[in-house]
Amino acid sequence: MRRPIVAGNWKMHGSRSETAALIEELLSGAPAKPAAACVICPPFVYLQEAARLLRDSIFSLGAQDVCAEAHGAFTGEISAAMLKDVGCEYVIVGHSERRLLYRDGDQLIARKFAAAHARGLVPILCVGEQLADREAGRTNEVITRQLDAVLELCGAGALGHGVIAYEPVWAIGTGRNATPDQAQEVHAFIRARVGERDAKIAAATRILYGGSVKAGNAAELFEMPDVDGGLIGGASLKGDEFLTILAAAR
Ligand code: 13P
Repeated sequence: MRRPIVAGNWKMHGSRSETAALIEELLSGAPAKPAAACVICPPFVYLQEAARLLRDSIFSLGAQDVCAEAHGAFTGEISAAMLKDVGCEYVIVGHSERRLLYRDGDQLIARKFAAAHARGLVPILCVGEQLADREAGRTNEVITRQLDAVLELCGAGALGHGVIAYEPVWAIGTGRNATPDQAQEVHAFIRARVGERDAKIAAATRILYGGSVKAGNAAELFEMPDVDGGLIGGASLKGDEFLTILAAAR
């Protein structure tokens, strides 16, 4: 049995006071024993305070990115050890905004995955095609390339300690989510691809769906057999909506 995960990627939103208020809202409305594991990923500068507020709660903390290097002269970067040090358990790697806006390539993302794994963080590896890829029938090819970079550098064992998030780029922030069938098709493909390396790991790996998940569509997406929860952007910034999405994962 794969326990689902619902993770909120806050991206570059909020302030110190808004972070505290949103966490307060989540804590006061959260169920005592949710069926899904719940992760929130605030911006770097609010992680430490978030960790303090979330202590002994049902929520785990994640970061939105990590440096591939362990330490040294890398101005502006944050290491996996630092994330661990301030209380993170998870970290997102390879989000499409990093891939497209900051040119994070497959090899760099695989190294970030390795750095996170080496420090005991759970990497959430994002994969997903752009609209032009889908329209040209290249979805599986793109996903394979993104997945194989991590499988080749880190191996299936390390991938099995992480989480995969399928986030079609055309569904992110657009209000146009993949249909449950579209999501299921790609999730099954991802699981099969990992299964070519190790069937047991493939069966145990959580694959989250991300891209315009809302309170109104979460249940039908999470119902699909290979969808093990979600990675939520915009809707994770509204406490009541995020809690409704969390309740939809069982
Ligand atoms: P939205 O839920 O806002 O579409 O964002 C999805 C996402 O990018 C989560 O990482």
